[in-house]
Amino acid sequence: MKKLSRTLEWSVWSQEELKAQDLMLVEAAKQATDGSWSPYSGFKVGAALLLDDGTVVTGSNQENAAYPSGLCAERTALFSAGHNHPGKAVTALAIAARNENGYTAQPITPCGACRQVLAETEQRGGRPIRYILYGTQGTMIIEGGTDAILPFCFGADSMK
Ligand code: THU
Repeated sequence: MKKLSRTLEWSVWSQEELKAQDLMLVEAAKQATDGSWSPYSGFKVGAALLLDDGTVVTGSNQENAAYPSGLCAERTALFSAGHNHPGKAVTALAIAARNENGYTAQPITPCGACRQVLAETEQRGGRPIRYILYGTQGTMIIEGGTDAILPFCFGADSMK
């Protein structure tokens, strides 16, 4: 028997401490919440992706009366980037979310399905994605790439 373990590292930043590019992406994610169509949950999520050429692609959650037909903000942005900017690597993702009381105090993290898409996006891009997750009580930054939020991920290589 062999026992293995791993460590997960992240940092928490105040608004004043954030570096210019991270702050710019957080602001883009917050602004993207305005595009949310979320009459069922009342939860507006915004995502902002940074591409390797400096382009920022945003997305928001789009709900539907047939609930599973809706899509999260992250995948809305990721698929938009894939379509409109093919071949460009995604280097960072900022997320912000708000309800009727305002932005969440704690950051939200991508759901499992979005993590799966993020894993493949990262693999295609060949560069780790930096996660910048906004909350009013602090912005969480994860630099380990998608493996840090989706360990033991299934991917194309798993089928070889
Ligand atoms: N949602 C996102 O857009 N991103 C997340 O990371 C978590 C959840 C959306 C889906 C749905 O429209 C609403 O938030 C409530 O789950």
